[in-house]
Amino acid sequence: MSSGWSWYISIIVIANILACIWLIRWTAKKRPGEGAAHETTGHTWDGLSELNQPMPRWWLWLFYATIVWGLIYLALYPGLGAYSGLLNWSQYSQYDEEVAQIEAEVAPLFSRYAEIDIPELARNDEAMQTGRRLFANNCAVCHGTDARGRPGFPRLAELAEEDWTWGGSPEDLYQSIDEGRQGVMPGLGSALGEDGMEAVTAYVFHLNGRDAPAEQVERGGELYQQQCRACHGEDGKGMRSMGAPNLTNDLWIYGGHREAIEYSIREGRSGRMPAQGHILGEDRVHLLAAYIYSLSLDVGENDDGNTANNE
Ligand code: HEC
Ligand code: HEC
Repeated sequence: MSSGWSWYISIIVIANILACIWLIRWTAKKRPGEGAAHETTGHTWDGLSELNQPMPRWWLWLFYATIVWGLIYLALYPGLGAYSGLLNWSQYSQYDEEVAQIEAEVAPLFSRYAEIDIPELARNDEAMQTGRRLFANNCAVCHGTDARGRPGFPRLAELAEEDWTWGGSPEDLYQSIDEGRQGVMPGLGSALGEDGMEAVTAYVFHLNGRDAPAEQVERGGELYQQQCRACHGEDGKGMRSMGAPNLTNDLWIYGGHREAIEYSIREGRSGRMPAQGHILGEDRVHLLAAYIYSLSLDVGENDDGNTANNE
């Protein structure tokens, strides 16, 4: 608070208190002629006249007491501009205290979960309910409430082992969440030229079991081995060390229509998963890793969600 405002507030508050004291003293003053019984104000209505008498003592003392109470309150709590009060209370410190109190209540819960291995924790319904709430609060903005992703943000649910860009093992998931991830795909439009772009796009279509002219697929396959293999791997199934996604499962971070795929190749992409460890702490990250793990538990050998793998 600027010192100008501080003075403004202080002066108004103190002036008000002084005015109250003056008002009470004034009403308590003995009127001339008091003692002479039944002095009136001179007002009469239909023969009823108004007596002019000071307020009763006990009533006055009640007023004084409220003023004293107000002064004590002012001394203890912030109320005089920049003066923060003897108790040093503020909404911020109260908020911090409440947060710390809640943290103290829930921390043992999280640390209890932290002792359970991720695959086992993923089968604990109670823990997963808490995990779902954590996900809703911290991750859903990007990955979607149902964890199915949206353009630019990968899907995290119902994935087979080979669908994860950075890995779906408990350790990989923990690391993705704890430290964050960043994949960098350089733009290759100028290296490939227009014909090359078309051919390589046809090859990516082919990798996903989509129709594409055989000639272009062949040419594109050659270009792929020169330009893309180092990151996406010989068979197009991606490479964890590079953060290069699988290009054969018809699952796309940036969308699977032609324009999105072409854009990725021409201009490059650089998605960033922000590190959460320093914000959430390791116990919550552990629980979230288990929650993400639980979302793909049902995806087993009998999964038919990835039919498009032609390689
Ligand atoms: C230097 C490594 C590197 C090279 C070379 C590279 N990529 Fe990538 N590519 C990546 C990474 C990393 C990503 C993920 C980017 C992200 O997460 O934002 C990616 C993403 C993509 C995507 C988007 C995938 C999706 O799910 O939306 C496509 C399509 C793609 N690459 C195709 C290619 C093709 C085709 C080539 C060769 C012409 C190629 N890439 C060369 C590293 C590479
Ligand atoms: C600001 C947006 C954002 C938030 C918030 C966010 N993520 Fe991500 N996340 C991303 C992006 C973008 C990627 C892809 C990174 C890349 O390009 O490889 C990603 C990748 C991941 C991956 C790796 C996926 C794979 O295929 O290997 C996991 C796991 C993950 N996020 C979990 C989480 C969890 C759990 C939370 C909440 C604690 C979270 N994310 C919050 C943007 C976000």
